[in-house]
Amino acid sequence: SANALWGGRFAAGPAEIMEKINASIGFDKQLYAQDIQGSKAHCKMLVARGIISRDDGDAILGGLDQVKDEIEAGKMTWDPALEDIHMHVESRLKEIIGEPAGRLHTARSRNDQVATDFKLWTRDAIDQMDEALGGLQTVLVDKADKYAEVILPGFTHLQSAQPVTFGHHLLAYFEMFARDRGRLQDARTRLNESPLGAAALAGTSFDTDRFMTATELGFDRPTANSLDSVSDRDFALEFLAAASICATHVSRLAEEIVIWSSAQFDYINLSHKFTTGSSIMPQKKNPDAAELCRAKAGRIIGALNSLLIVMKGLPLAYSKDMQEDKEATFDAANAFSLIIAAMAGMVDDMEVKADKMLASTQSGFITATDLADWLVRVLGMPFRDAHHVTGTLVAKAEQKGCDLDGLTLEEMQAVEGRITDDVFSVLSVENSVASRTSYGGTAPARVREQVKAARERLKS
Ligand code: ARG
Repeated sequence: SANALWGGRFAAGPAEIMEKINASIGFDKQLYAQDIQGSKAHCKMLVARGIISRDDGDAILGGLDQVKDEIEAGKMTWDPALEDIHMHVESRLKEIIGEPAGRLHTARSRNDQVATDFKLWTRDAIDQMDEALGGLQTVLVDKADKYAEVILPGFTHLQSAQPVTFGHHLLAYFEMFARDRGRLQDARTRLNESPLGAAALAGTSFDTDRFMTATELGFDRPTANSLDSVSDRDFALEFLAAASICATHVSRLAEEIVIWSSAQFDYINLSHKFTTGSSIMPQKKNPDAAELCRAKAGRIIGALNSLLIVMKGLPLAYSKDMQEDKEATFDAANAFSLIIAAMAGMVDDMEVKADKMLASTQSGFITATDLADWLVRVLGMPFRDAHHVTGTLVAKAEQKGCDLDGLTLEEMQAVEGRITDDVFSVLSVENSVASRTSYGGTAPARVREQVKAARERLKS
């Protein structure tokens, strides 16, 4: 049978496969609350502008509340023939209140309706992610405070580079997540314009008030161009881009957790809360939560790519391709919230093995830079020469099978005669980190300062 909403032009209903490929209700029912919120704002505006009567408006508002209650009570019948959430809400409204339901769609189209719903949904998602990230940052600061003096190797190329404090390492992630929150806020600011009332693409001949609906829905203003209003999915792309970058950060930390919890590194111990066993190897305690954080980052990046590719060939204004925006975004948001929560849980849960971290700084010539710096500071050598002398000493120690502080003064003097006993004072990792007091450096005193500043930033 022909469609109830556009049956006038249609003699027959769609092919079965058309109904299947066309239907979005399976996923866009998630937008029911936003759809009803948007419809209520639109209805109030139509009444305020005298476009529909107050009685009809009241009937519509009451009916929409009932539809919402029914959906939340699980009483709504979902029917693929009704395509999407917008048509489900409207047709149920018609069953409840009759004729006035048909007046709600005056001066509106599903094109501005879906853009509005999806923006409202994305705005909520941004707000939720912002809060979740604040929680993760709080965990990171607390741990950074606790481990401000714990020393471990800092790596470049995953080779021992210079000793750092574990608190400093954790605060590096605090900074990443701070930028991620900034990106989400930027996206929110640009998102927050109302497309409602742009209608199908050209605007409407009715004397509407788009500023009123914008305000009612918490938008800063209406969008300025009706064509852009219904064609724009930047807001979803920006959300996915910010989520992808943030997920990349989560993934890097997850990767470190996988490395740190391996028997070879043994820097941390994850409790049974965030690990799983093996069905064959009885000794195993696998960091599955971290691995899944790493993998879900891929999924989120995939969603960004998927939507970019859907959008890139579309002429203005709306095309049905755009219906494919939602599943990827919903899925990414779900994955995003899972990984932030799981990461916060893991960081909070992990037991830090300070002795193991320290022990692994005792090999790898990790204070070689400190030795070179000493040659510059005390002997007045140019840094390049000091680098060369130190390199020779490292080679010598390697040959002898010891670390730098295992060389005798005589052995050092054979390379550079002016070296004195004082050099040994800079070869300890404790002195090394304590000396890194430059702004943003790894010295425990600096880390404590950064912890304090980070806590202030979390308050604002
Ligand atoms: N279900 C559609 C979507 O998600 C709603 C908009 C339909 N508009 C149209 N002109 N067919 O994009």
